[in-house]
Amino acid sequence: MTGHADVPVRGARLRVGVLASGRGSNLQAILDATRAPGYPAQVVIVVCDRERAPALERARAAGVEALFLNPKDFADRPAYDAALVKALTARRVELMCHAGWMRILSPVYIDAFAGRALNIHPSLLPSFPGLRAQRQALEHGVKVAGATVHFSDEGMDTGPIVAQASVPVLEDDTEDTLAARILVEEHRMFPEVIRLFAEGRLTIEGRCVRVKR
Ligand code: GRF
Repeated sequence: MTGHADVPVRGARLRVGVLASGRGSNLQAILDATRAPGYPAQVVIVVCDRERAPALERARAAGVEALFLNPKDFADRPAYDAALVKALTARRVELMCHAGWMRILSPVYIDAFAGRALNIHPSLLPSFPGLRAQRQALEHGVKVAGATVHFSDEGMDTGPIVAQASVPVLEDDTEDTLAARILVEEHRMFPEVIRLFAEGRLTIEGRCVRVKR
């Protein structure tokens, strides 16, 4: 994959969409970051696939459009994703952020946002992709864990890595205590990466992402 982040017109803030399925603490970190003066991006829509996702409420509380797209209303995955792309295109979304999105995305969506969709995952990829990454880390007995922000591609938690942050794994960690330590890094890192994208400082070269400092 090769691509360049679009450099926004001076003064215009990058239009960001967020996909979230649950709690939405990463969404909240992004929403909070966008309130800082000079932050170069704004969230224009949050889409959830679960009606009771707290993320929907967080979006509304921040005055951001919250859209529940019910999988049951669509015949199959491509039909769902086509509706998703249509909604995002209509809002002129320039960058997508997957913040705890639990639904597999088909090529209909992935191709539409190639090089323009970021995912966050609570492990140091390529270790421990998929569900319950923190539990996988504990089961492997690793001493260092962490989080990754990467561009999304057709794979599960694959795609060019933009940023990673590590945390120690402690002797008495549970899945919850480790997840909480990793989350602190997630909340710091995701808004930072969005800023880099918005400032046109990310370039994808094959599997690698170059960051212009
Ligand atoms: C985070 O750990 C994220 O890395 C993973 O799912 C979790 C979502 O948490 N993909 P939240 O909904 O942002 O609180």
